Amino acid sequence: MNKQEQDELKKEAAIKAAGMVKSGMILGVGTGSTVAFFIDALGKRRKEDGLKLKAMVTTSSRSKKQLESWGFKVGKLSDIDHVDLTIDGSDRVADNFDGIKGGGGALTLEKNVAINSNKIIWIVDESKLVHRLSGFPLPVEVLPISCEQNFRRFQAEGLKPQWRMDNGKRFVTHYGNYIIDLAVDPIPVPHGLADYLDHTVGVVEHGLFLGMCDEVIIAHSNGKIED
Ligand code: 5RP
Repeated sequence: MNKQEQDELKKEAAIKAAGMVKSGMILGVGTGSTVAFFIDALGKRRKEDGLKLKAMVTTSSRSKKQLESWGFKVGKLSDIDHVDLTIDGSDRVADNFDGIKGGGGALTLEKNVAINSNKIIWIVDESKLVHRLSGFPLPVEVLPISCEQNFRRFQAEGLKPQWRMDNGKRFVTHYGNYIIDLAVDPIPVPHGLADYLDHTVGVVEHGLFLGMCDEVIIAHSNGKIED
């Protein structure tokens, strides 16, 4: 599948998800190229169908800017007590709907919005589907103060760490932290790794989203859209 074909699929999944948003909802909006199509489709619904949300939060300044360009008012997660529905992309989705996220570096806010959401829908093209979590390095956001120790410990554990880079420098997240991508592939015991990372000092968040997603909208190259 070339990029243009993949973008078409992302767009189809995004349009379907935009049709599932109802007026009066508190909506969470994720980050990434698939979500960018979703925001455009949602913006059109606002303009053409008069879609009126109760509140909206998002997971990156990129998405915020795009939502505001469509006239949406974007609030802060700390100002609301729950999110009715979150629409986000994912880098990999396993058969049981476990996922790897954070390819765009927004994993910390994405997980915080997710954990406060009553329902989560991921929108993906078929290339993201895997039987077991694999095929994508696992992003781990770490505090700069102890990042070298974290890197060495991951190396010693055989987790194949790599610094995420951006124009020759370490990638810096929204919160001023770094990302270490773990090239462990496949992830043999996702819950075990999540538990280890959850208990590692200096790790802010990781991209294992286990048991969080309720529904996945998948656009297939044979024209089928599945959810
Ligand atoms: C960003 C994410 C994205 O949802 C994920 O990377 C999918 O992105 P895309 O839709 O561009 O493939 O987790 O941190």
